[in-house]
Formats: sequence, C-alpha cells, structure tokens
Amino acid sequence: MSRIAVVPGSFDPVTLGHLDVIGRAAGIFDQVHVLVVHNPAKTALLPIAQRVSLIEQAIRDAGLPGSITVTSWSVGLLVDYCTEVGASVIVKGIRSQVDVAYETPMAIVNRDLAGVETVFMLPNPAHAHVSSSLVRQVAALGGDVNPYVPTAVSDFLKSPAFD
Ligand code: PNS
Repeated sequence: MSRIAVVPGSFDPVTLGHLDVIGRAAGIFDQVHVLVVHNPAKTALLPIAQRVSLIEQAIRDAGLPGSITVTSWSVGLLVDYCTEVGASVIVKGIRSQVDVAYETPMAIVNRDLAGVETVFMLPNPAHAHVSSSLVRQVAALGGDVNPYVPTAVSDFLKSPAFD
C-alpha cells in the first residue's frame, strides 16, 4: 500500500526549514503532498498561488528526490484534503517546545476528526531559528533574507513582480 503524507502550512513564504522537512518526508513516504493552507490567524504576504509556485521552484532547484506534489486547499478542514487523497499521515516540522505546544492540540483534533496521525519531524538544527514570520518582517524592512529562504524566494522578494 502506498503511504501518502501531507505536509501542510502557510508557507508564506517557504523557508529553508520547510524545505528540509519536505525533503525528509519525501525520503520516508511514497508520496508527499505539500499543501498550502490559508491561516486566517496570520496576515498574508504572498497570494496562495505564488506560494505554491515558489515551493515548486524551490523543490526543483534543490533537486529533492521522491514523489512530491504541491497544491493548495481552501474549502474545508485539512483532514478533508487528507481523506480526499488517501493520506493517512500529516507531517509537521518541530523547531522547539513552542512548536510542540502549538502543534499538539491540532494533531489530536485531526486524529479525532478523521483518524489521521501526525508525525513530528525534526529539521536540521541550523534552521531552528527560521520562521516565515521572521522572514516577512526582515523582507518588509529591507533586510537580507538570503540565509533563511530558498533562492527562488529571495529572488522573487527582490524582483519588481513583488514591489
Ligand atoms: O504554517 P501554519 O500557519 O502554522 O499552518 C497551520 C495550518 C494551516 C496547517 C493549520 O491552521 C490548519 O491545519 N488549517 C486548516 C484548517 C483545519 O483543518 N483546522 C483544524 C485543525 S485542528
């Protein structure tokens, strides 16, 4: 049986930490669906379609092996998407105890709702301080985000298309 995992998130924008987790998931599961989900609790920087495109570009540029698709979801629960594509696992990157505290209730609710298990994945500690919200802030104030994001993202944030 093919094991399908969903790696969900806002990815606004995708960071090197996200890419690390996506690559690790692709090394474990037969298929990985990277799912861009609008989080109403956060003020968005990039349109959803742009986020999808940047993740696709970053995965291509990094040459990540495995079966990875990138898509978005806006019509219901995360577990509805999982059920629709036959995914039994959600993968979340964990940088610290703060992430554990944030992710644990969602993981339990997702299991209650649809029996979908969540796997917590530890990224390379080199990325432990990197978050999309930090990148958004640095980019908005004209700082260099190169160390935190894939080249596709830093190029896009510098391009006239973003201004
Ligand atoms: O990158 P983020 O913003 O931390 O990702 C959070 C996200 C989008 C994965 C989470 O908010 C989510 O799963 N939203 C979908 C709606 C849903 O299913 N909510 C119930 C989960 S308990």
